[in-house]
Amino acid sequence: MVSTEFSLEAVRAATPGVDNVIHVNNAGAALPPSVVTDTVVDYLRREEAIGGYETADERHDQLEAVYDSLGALVGAPREHMAVIENATRAWDMAIYGYPFERGDRVVTCRAEYSSNVLAFLQLERRFGIEMVLIDDDEHGQIDLAHLDTELTRGAAMVAMTHIPTSGGLINPAEEVGALCGEHGVFFVLDACQSAGQVPLDVGTIGCDVLSGTGRKYLRGPRGTGFLYVSERALDVLEPPFIDLHAADWTRVDDYEWRPDARRFENWETYYAGKAGLGAAVDYALGVGIETTAVRIADLAARLRNGLGSLDRVAVHDKGARRGGIVTFTVDGVDATSVHAQLLARRINTSTSGPDRARLDLEPRGLPTVIRASTHYYNSEDEIDAVIAAVDEVR
Ligand SMILES: Cc1ncc(COP(=O)(O)O)c(C=O)c1O
Repeated sequence: MVSTEFSLEAVRAATPGVDNVIHVNNAGAALPPSVVTDTVVDYLRREEAIGGYETADERHDQLEAVYDSLGALVGAPREHMAVIENATRAWDMAIYGYPFERGDRVVTCRAEYSSNVLAFLQLERRFGIEMVLIDDDEHGQIDLAHLDTELTRGAAMVAMTHIPTSGGLINPAEEVGALCGEHGVFFVLDACQSAGQVPLDVGTIGCDVLSGTGRKYLRGPRGTGFLYVSERALDVLEPPFIDLHAADWTRVDDYEWRPDARRFENWETYYAGKAGLGAAVDYALGVGIETTAVRIADLAARLRNGLGSLDRVAVHDKGARRGGIVTFTVDGVDATSVHAQLLARRINTSTSGPDRARLDLEPRGLPTVIRASTHYYNSEDEIDAVIAAVDEVR
């Protein structure tokens, strides 16, 4: 869909939740536009009226179009897209499907999402892989020179989180992809916070696998996510689970994987959510991610500047390039209390603890931080109201 000129009025009119709350918890789950909710509810009503299998048949074209939408979102053919219930399970499909051998080195970074690191720790215990941590550079992003050195030593995979859950950093995915290309290393990108927040093109990034979620910057329904699987990844990975959707039972003692990325899906799935995910992606592409990415970052910069100017408030975001996630602490008021006091003023934020970011917040000696994450539908007045509220709380 071709993007038209951005209208704050139009996107707010299409977002009923903005009448109730100032929502700066978009890195948690964004407010959906009405078209997403309507699509899900309409789908469920049809299931109620004529039956689930019958609705799936009747809505075949609508459900198939979701793969076109996801492909357009990341610049990939539809055959390379799978719909999976969340970003974690999508990412797991690649990691647990990779044919690791004892001693294989998996390279990651400080921004890596907690569940991903837990998966590597489990694979270390089960299969003897080695997790190699790349340090931050002076900007707080993945250190590309250190990465190059480690890739020269040899690695099976680079797994990197594009935008962490606990800070404003945007990691340089394209530069990492270029190094993986030079060294011939398999590259898995966790784009959970970046899908819908910044433009993504798997060809330009050069990743083999990319995982994302529906409910965050894409403004889709909860319980939805997706996976991009490149041609090479289709050859290299074997789905860790099999069912009658992923494979054909060709003879009594044989089966064949389906040829496309949907071999990573389940047979039974959240159909209404899938339809809603398609509506969310179409809406995001319609508003124009190139445009909204700039607005998200500008609103976050306004928030960082405002918060940074308050005494006893410290902003903690790293990165040469920063997006919509703003993290901060207030001296003498713990993050849970700040979060609750903002909530009482109808301002939605969340918190991020060092126990969920042991490679990032823990070494920086940070306590639990408050996370305020902007979206393009936030107004400048809302951002100023958040700053004023934090000023009161402190
Ligand atoms: C960077 C990152 N990766 C992965 C996830 C997991 O996503 P999901 O909850 O959809 O599995 C999150 C969730 O916050 C995240 O921020």
